[in-house]
This record gives sequence, C-alpha cells and structure tokens, in this order.
Amino acid sequence: MTTVLAIDQGTSGTKAVVTDGEGKVLGLAEHPVRPAYLPGGVEQNPQELLDSVLAAGRQAVAQAGAPIDAVALANQGETVLAWNPDTGEPLSPAIVWQDRRSEEVCVRLREHADRIARVTGLVLDPYFSAPKMAWLRENVTREGVITTSDAWLVHRLTGEFVTDVSTASRSLVTRLDDAEWDDELLDLFGLAGERLPRLVANDEVVGSTSAFGGDLPVCGLVVDQQAALLAENCLTAGEAKCTFGTGAFLLANTGTSATRSAAGLAASVAWRVRGETSHCLDGQVYTAASAVRWLRDLGMIDSAADLDVVAADDGEGVLCVPAFAGLAAPWWRPDARAAFTGMTLATGRGHLVLAVLQGIAAQVAELGDLVATDLGRPLSTLRVDGGLTRSRVLMQAVADLTQVTIEVYPSEHATPLGAAALARAALDPALPLREAVGGWKPATTYEPRWPEERAAEFRARWREAVQTMTRQGQEGE
Ligand code: G3P
Repeated sequence: MTTVLAIDQGTSGTKAVVTDGEGKVLGLAEHPVRPAYLPGGVEQNPQELLDSVLAAGRQAVAQAGAPIDAVALANQGETVLAWNPDTGEPLSPAIVWQDRRSEEVCVRLREHADRIARVTGLVLDPYFSAPKMAWLRENVTREGVITTSDAWLVHRLTGEFVTDVSTASRSLVTRLDDAEWDDELLDLFGLAGERLPRLVANDEVVGSTSAFGGDLPVCGLVVDQQAALLAENCLTAGEAKCTFGTGAFLLANTGTSATRSAAGLAASVAWRVRGETSHCLDGQVYTAASAVRWLRDLGMIDSAADLDVVAADDGEGVLCVPAFAGLAAPWWRPDARAAFTGMTLATGRGHLVLAVLQGIAAQVAELGDLVATDLGRPLSTLRVDGGLTRSRVLMQAVADLTQVTIEVYPSEHATPLGAAALARAALDPALPLREAVGGWKPATTYEPRWPEERAAEFRARWREAVQTMTRQGQEGE
C-alpha cells in the first residue's frame, strides 16, 4: 500500500496530509500563512511558505508514524517570485494570484488579447502568472530566475528546476494545445531569454528529497484546483466541482481535446497522466474565505463557524457583489471593487453576512451557467469541497441559485488527496488513474429549495448590481 505525504501549499496556509492507498488520513498538520494586503497588492514571504511546507510536512509524518513512499505537492497556481537559482534564496516577495498590480502590463498588451486567448485558452488578466512575472521584472529585480511558487519549493526540496504542465498552463505563455512554452508570447511579455523550468507531467517523479526523513521521491506536482477536480472524481468531460477556499473555483473537465471557452471562462490543462493530457474550464470567485475573513476582521463574526448563526434568514433586499480583489470570469475586471446595495437604516450585520454568502453563491451560479453554455448542456450536479462547505447557509444558497444538486465531498482534504492520487500513479505506472483516485460518496447533498422564478429574480437583481458597480468603475477611469 502506497503511503504519500501530500502537501497543499495554499494562499492562506499549508496543509500536509499523510494518506494511505485507500485515502485514509494517517497524519495531518496545518500551518497558516498570512498574506500582506497592500493597496492593489497581495504578497507572501517565500521563506514563510517554505518553512510552513517543512513544518507541516514533518509534523504530519511524525503523527502518521508510518513509512512514507513519496511526497506530492499541490500549489496555488499563479503565485510567482524571483529567486537565485544557485543559492535558492528568494529575490522578491511572492506575488500572490490575487495581486492586481500587473494590470498595467495587461493594459499595455490589450491589442494582443485575442491572440493570447487563442494560443493559451486564458484571458489577459493579472490573475495569471506571466503579467506578474513581467511586473516583477520591471519593478522589483532583473536578477535570478522568475517562476511560480511550486518551481521554487521543488527546487528547495530536490535541487531540480521543474514545473508541471497544469501550473504552466496558468501562465499566459504556454500553448493550450501542446502545453509547451511559447516563444512569441514570452517575447510579448518581455520574458524572452528567461531561464524557464522544465515542464513535467503530473505523474512524473521529478527528483527526491530528504526534507521529511529518508530519501523520498517527489511526484504528483499539480495546481491545487486541478488536484481537487481529480480527487472529486471529475474524470469525464462535463463533470464539475467547486472548491470553496480563499477564493471559490469552479472547474469542469472537458476531456482530452483542448476546448476553449466561448463564454469567458479560462481553459487549462487539468493533468497529463500516462502521456495523455486532460483539459478543464474554470471560473473564479476571487474572494470567498477572503470575504469571510474580511467580515471577521470587521468584527461582524468571530470566526467562519459563526456564519450560519449570524446570517439573517432573509436578506431583505441587501445584496453584495464580493469583488474584494476584482472580478474574474466572465467580466474580467481587475479594477472592480466589492459593493453592497439595498441597505436601509434597518440593515443589520445578519443581513450583511447573508448578503456576502449569497453574493458568493450568485457568482458561483453565474460560473455554472457559463460552464453549461460551453458544454452545451446544464450541469446535473455540482461537487463541492473546501472549508466554507461547512456553512449550510452558503451551500443551500449555492443549491438555490444554481438550481442543481450540490454534493459535498466527504473529506476536508480534496486537494492533498488529489495530489496523492497523482503520486500513486507516478509510483505505479500500471495503476489506472481512476483506481489511484478511488471512489467517494457525498457527505451531504443540498437540493434547491427556491423555485426557479425566485432564483431567476434574485440573480437578475444581483447581475444588475454587478453592472452598476462595473459601470461606476468605468466612469471613474
Ligand atoms: O488560482 C488560485 C487558487 O488555485 C488558490 O487556491 O486554495 O489557495 O485559495 P487556494
């Protein structure tokens, strides 16, 4: 039985899980990481990321007390930093995917947006890694290499210089069709001549590390969202999941041909396993748990566990567009700001808390519709995971507004379990991917309680609030 230490290095913290071949958790450790929120910027201290990976990994291994066969790593996807390839020392802060400061790079390249979208499947937006890499080069340092956070962490663990194809597909400088770096796009972003990591498959052993005791193979490198897609068994075209983490990310498997979105979603590599590349479409709510943290920082709730206690039963017309870090698909407005509408002197914190939860759910419902448009059929169910799935109010709102059945993944560890499945596939080339993942039954399901008309009426009002807010942004330019 293969036992894997799977590390999920996320935006708000690092989680390490030791799991056996049946998906049982033998060891678990979590180390929070607090990003620095600057005007328009979100940064992390790279050393803190590495320290959290080492500490959480070692703690989980000690707790498991079982021999480990491999180390897998899931990463944030689009967070970048500059570092010295000789010493491994960071040369810049980590610029987090939520950081909007590279908007200036995107504005400059606007006339190339269609070509970039055609080649990469992505939208020209500061969310993706290449604009942030260009911004770092122009504003912070011309020294060293500049990569996503996974490449740096893997280098510190193994000495290798690699990134996996799912992570590279989030960059705006790889081709969606063959998942290779594209020289013309690198040139466009001013990144020609950069030393880039070797691209590896998700079932590849990339090196070994002694950071967690013994000499262990490192394999199963993957973007966190794609890892959750895999764990939730979305292996067939049309199957979709939404992870409610720092942000909420809805991904749908689109099969083995590279499908671009006609509806404003991003298209990327889901994983490359056994030499075959699977693709996915994704839509993003940039602030989910981040919006809840904001509520907490303002004193409206003590912790996320309070959400359902404090949320009012009825919003009484108060709506929230939770665009605390801009809006992604299908609006792609990095300049958008969060907004509350419909408040009166009778509005209390319960209405505001409910409005934030319903705002997140409404945005997820929009993304579900876009996926359905691209797939040419409505979603039959939506699988969900992540910390915020503990909020029954949020999950019921997602069911009401999407009008589909919501199936809650039974483990809080979808992302590390997905990365562990890839590591298992790497260690045993004869193991079918479906077997490496294993089956699951939902812990809970939510059926829509609102009639269709009520959902449609709410969503029309919510869309109107988005339009008002984005119009105001444009007028203010
Ligand atoms: O695209 C960013 C996303 O993958 C980060 O995920 O779990 O750190 O919110 P998380």
